[in-house]
Amino acid sequence: MKKQVLLTPYNLAGLELNNRMVMAPMTRSRSNNEGNVATSLTAKYYAQRATAGLIITEGTFVSTKAVGFINVPGIYSEAQTEGWKLVTKAVHDNGGKIFAQLWHTGRLSHPDLHNGELPHAPSAINPNSKAYTTAGFVDTVTPKEMSIEEIKQTVQDFKNAAANAVKAGFDGVELHAANGYLFHQFFNGVSNRRTDEYGGSIENRARILFETLDALKGVIDYDRVGIRFNPSMHNAMGMMVDEQTIPTFEYIIKRLNDYSLAYIHLTEPFTNVDDVPFAVSKVAKHFRPLYNGTLIINKGFNKETGTQIIEEGYADLVAFGVPFLANPDLVKRFEISAPLNKPDQQTFYTTGIKGYLDYPALTA
Ligand SMILES: Cc1cc2nc3c(=O)[nH]c(=O)nc-3n(C[C@H](O)[C@H](O)[C@H](O)COP(=O)(O)O)c2cc1C
Repeated sequence: MKKQVLLTPYNLAGLELNNRMVMAPMTRSRSNNEGNVATSLTAKYYAQRATAGLIITEGTFVSTKAVGFINVPGIYSEAQTEGWKLVTKAVHDNGGKIFAQLWHTGRLSHPDLHNGELPHAPSAINPNSKAYTTAGFVDTVTPKEMSIEEIKQTVQDFKNAAANAVKAGFDGVELHAANGYLFHQFFNGVSNRRTDEYGGSIENRARILFETLDALKGVIDYDRVGIRFNPSMHNAMGMMVDEQTIPTFEYIIKRLNDYSLAYIHLTEPFTNVDDVPFAVSKVAKHFRPLYNGTLIINKGFNKETGTQIIEEGYADLVAFGVPFLANPDLVKRFEISAPLNKPDQQTFYTTGIKGYLDYPALTA
């Protein structure tokens, strides 16, 4: 019988992946410890899922200012870097590959996470969304508009985080430029009203991303760097699609052809945008012709649709989020067409091992 295309190996710029199934980045907020460090539990969670061709970790904060969610393991301190070593070793010992997702939440944060100070953002505009604090999900506030100096510092924070990721033994890093977080806030006109070199034109709104890539030079090879985008995110996380949105992502993605990155990682729309002016409802199909390198697609895929999108040539790899969260042996289950465990949403962001380490694998 012909092997499912999802189960065939893939050469990711020299990194041999055992299959084309990627574990999508998922915040699990289990680092409820002093210093927000990844622990042996984090290592066990990822080791259980190491048969994925590639794991992308939960978003990990590049600085204290990047924080927008409690109990997330960061990657700015020495202790955090040491914690991640447990994770990379456990995944490698189990034959897997793992990238760290580098995250700055920008305005999707709250003063309670910053000793009462305002979160940073391109412009002082409230996303009218939620941030996750010790009090649970709370309303966001109007953030502080970043100074040029603060933008430059943020670029350095990504550089420092990437250096720590290399030290920690990660196979690469993914810049989180999706889902309404800091980079996305710079790209989008509803969140970026700046009139300096970081706002206004498409080139200016994309500038911080390319400055970050420049800063990574010498720290990590570009073929070990991926970037995640959610181009048609609309009416969610403070993002709105307008006439500039898709041209902005087209500009960015075309320009990334010059960088020979590990991959770009796109998500199909999180909400139905069929009737939203200027949005594209088929993201992989729209952007595939614009990009020469590896394309990962995500959101709502299963074995059949994941197979189909690769066979149609719109993506090289498929990332699965919730299916991997609830099925540590998802690869095996696809291989033998076994039924899947049901995810328990109540424990997505709670602490402890319930809903984290106790999803059963198939027994022989
Ligand atoms: C519990 C949970 C946490 C998530 N955390 C992140 C994150 O840290 N970074 C990110 O880029 N996406 C995050 N996402 C989005 C997922 O990566 C993915 O896009 C989403 O689950 C849709 O894919 P799926 O349909 O395969 O689950 C999260 C999703 C879930 C369910």
